[in-house]
Amino acid sequence: MAFLPRAFLLLFHILLVRSVLGKVKLSMVDNLEVYLGDSATIPCHYSFTDVEKEPSLLMIQWFVKAAGNGTRLRIYYADSSQQVIDNRTDYTGRIDVTTDRKESRLTIRKVQLSDEREFFCQVNGLAAGSNESRTNLRVFRPPESPVIEGVLTGISVTKKGLSKVASCEVRNGFPKPNIIWYRNEEALTPVPDKANILILVTRESSGFYSVQSTLEYKVEREDENSLFVCEVSFAVPGAIRTTSTHAVNITVHYPTTTMKLWKESPRGLVKEGDTVELRCQGDGNPPPHVIFNRAQEPEKVLNSSGNVLTLSSVSRKDSGAYQCRPSGADESSKVKAEMNLTVHYLDPAVVVPKDSEMMIRGDKLTATCNALSSLQTITVWYKGQNKVGQGHSLELTDASYQTSGEYKCEVTVPSLPTLRTSGSVHIIVQGSPQMEGGVQEVQLEEAVGRTVNLSCKALGHPPPSISWSIAGSQSWKEIVNRAHEDSVYSLVSIEVTSDISATCNASNDMGAEAKFFHIKANPTIIKFPEGSGIIIVVIILCLLLLAFLGSVLYFLHKKRQLPCKLTKEKSATDDNEKKANAKNEGTPLNITNSEKKGPNEQ
Ligand SMILES: *[C@@H]1O[C@H](CO)[C@@H](O)[C@H](O)[C@H]1NC(C)=O
Ligand SMILES: *[C@@H]1O[C@H](CO)[C@@H](O)[C@H](O)[C@H]1NC(C)=O
Ligand SMILES: *[C@@H]1O[C@H](CO)[C@@H](O)[C@H](O)[C@H]1NC(C)=O
Ligand SMILES: *[C@@H]1O[C@H](CO)[C@@H](O)[C@H](O)[C@H]1NC(C)=O
Ligand SMILES: *[C@@H]1O[C@H](CO)[C@@H](O)[C@H](O)[C@H]1NC(C)=O
Ligand SMILES: *[C@@H]1O[C@H](CO)[C@@H](O)[C@H](O)[C@H]1NC(C)=O
Ligand SMILES: *[C@@H]1O[C@H](CO)[C@@H](O)[C@H](O)[C@H]1NC(C)=O
Ligand SMILES: *[C@@H]1O[C@H](CO)[C@@H](O)[C@H](O)[C@H]1NC(C)=O
Repeated sequence: MAFLPRAFLLLFHILLVRSVLGKVKLSMVDNLEVYLGDSATIPCHYSFTDVEKEPSLLMIQWFVKAAGNGTRLRIYYADSSQQVIDNRTDYTGRIDVTTDRKESRLTIRKVQLSDEREFFCQVNGLAAGSNESRTNLRVFRPPESPVIEGVLTGISVTKKGLSKVASCEVRNGFPKPNIIWYRNEEALTPVPDKANILILVTRESSGFYSVQSTLEYKVEREDENSLFVCEVSFAVPGAIRTTSTHAVNITVHYPTTTMKLWKESPRGLVKEGDTVELRCQGDGNPPPHVIFNRAQEPEKVLNSSGNVLTLSSVSRKDSGAYQCRPSGADESSKVKAEMNLTVHYLDPAVVVPKDSEMMIRGDKLTATCNALSSLQTITVWYKGQNKVGQGHSLELTDASYQTSGEYKCEVTVPSLPTLRTSGSVHIIVQGSPQMEGGVQEVQLEEAVGRTVNLSCKALGHPPPSISWSIAGSQSWKEIVNRAHEDSVYSLVSIEVTSDISATCNASNDMGAEAKFFHIKANPTIIKFPEGSGIIIVVIILCLLLLAFLGSVLYFLHKKRQLPCKLTKEKSATDDNEKKANAKNEGTPLNITNSEKKGPNEQ
């Protein structure tokens, strides 16, 4: 019997406890993320499962987990009668707690790094039950902008192992920021013998993290153009942020593998006398110092300045192959460049025959003009301004006195117009005198008392001399006698007194030729000036009119016995009378006077 009550009692007790001890449900966020310095509000929501049993007494306490030993430290207590912020904790003066019916909210002002810890909310309703929950407060502080530094000194591709390429530092972040390296926008990860990343993390006294990362890389020649960027990623409330540095490039040193050699000046073909500049360049970095030599004298280094070889006033002897190589390399170095320099030339023209040459009239002659050149030439012959031939030989056939003169040959090089030369030959055609216009007999008529000019021009070489023989006039003189190299001109002035025959005889060593003049002296010829025909007609008409008037007056006199005064007038028509009155009479007689003056002027 004693068993039964005991079992019953136990059951009763369990039922009693279950009914007395209700449940409290707490709801808190696991994590709360805030920026350093901001305020953080941690809510603690509670509810009692047994709604009937609203707690008569409710205690709410907030704790933090102490730094170091992990014990809990109360920071706040409240019951129906009091609300206490505990003295002498990290939170004294920095927290507020507000509580309404179902929620207690802990507000931490000016969140510090040390606030990154767990906050506990404990709700105790005694018979209504008790429970606790927690929120982990997380504090964030974005780091300062990262700073990248490329290696300034050149990095040699021949260096064994990895070389430091750049370093990047990001300071004062919380939590620890991360650094990622990019090469030409491609993220780099450590790869043996290719890339390595050294990271140094520093916990500052402030509690912030500073991270320094050094990129070591196996530099290749193409990294000359590579750009390296450092990217920092860091957490902020609810997100991950990144910031990048500017890109840095590096100086890559690599050996010269090929050389280039070219003519820098002058442009185009080179001629003797030019100043030639040959430039040599190696593809290495830094560019190699270079030395020059001629291919046939590899051991003889030419005097150059920098990577330019200057050859002043070159001659054809400077033609040939030139080489350049890095100054460190010896003559047998495979790293070298070669080029051929051709110096073009045009020698002075040689004309055959030389200087001057005699030709006999009617002969032929071939003159040649030659100028040695490294290039195709064109030869043109000129006599005075006129082009008389092309090509290096000039044929002169059937020489006449017109053939005489200076022949100039001009030699030009079409591909190099500044190259030109010329030569000349003087041709003299020798022969007996030749009258200009051929042998002639000139017939003239001239009034007695007048003078005539007779001229005579003869060609010939040696220059002919002219002699005149004049029959029929005592009064003549030579007024012009001009002799040129191979011509002579003579002019004689002769007064005509009677018929004249004149001979102009041009003669030299080679012969003679004469020109004949026959002048018929004509005493009767009156020459009228142009237009005198009309005047003659007028005179004749006047005479006819006078004759008519005379006859009319005669008839009237016979019929009507006119006074004799008019008869006297009629006798004035006599020729002599007319001349005497000429100056006092009217126009027709004046014209007569001028008509008579005309011939005198001739
Ligand atoms: C405490 O609260 C949690 C969550 O609200 C709940 O799951 C648990 O049962 C409660 N414990 C007690 C003893 O009330
Ligand atoms: C734990 O640390 C707190 C302060 O950090 C101190 O007050 C407390 O006495 C320590 N408790 C133990 C058991 O060491
Ligand atoms: C906290 O300190 C103040 C004075 O400094 C005092 O008045 C108060 O009673 C103390 N409270 C607790 C809970 O010790
Ligand atoms: C980096 O590149 C810039 C132009 O893109 C150039 O002027 C500079 O010299 C380079 N610096 C190095 C170290 O190569
Ligand atoms: C090379 O040039 C320098 C200066 O231009 C001159 O003094 C020297 O005599 C030259 N050497 C030869 C071999 O021409
Ligand atoms: C230079 O000329 C020679 C002979 O004509 C020739 O064999 C050689 O290939 C030329 N070199 C260059 C770089 O043109
Ligand atoms: C003859 O020639 C001379 C000199 O040239 C000249 O002065 C003169 O007028 C000429 N006489 C005639 C009639 O042409
Ligand atoms: C011209 O002169 C030459 C030499 O003086 C002479 O032989 C020749 O007979 C002359 N001719 C005439 C036509 O007078």
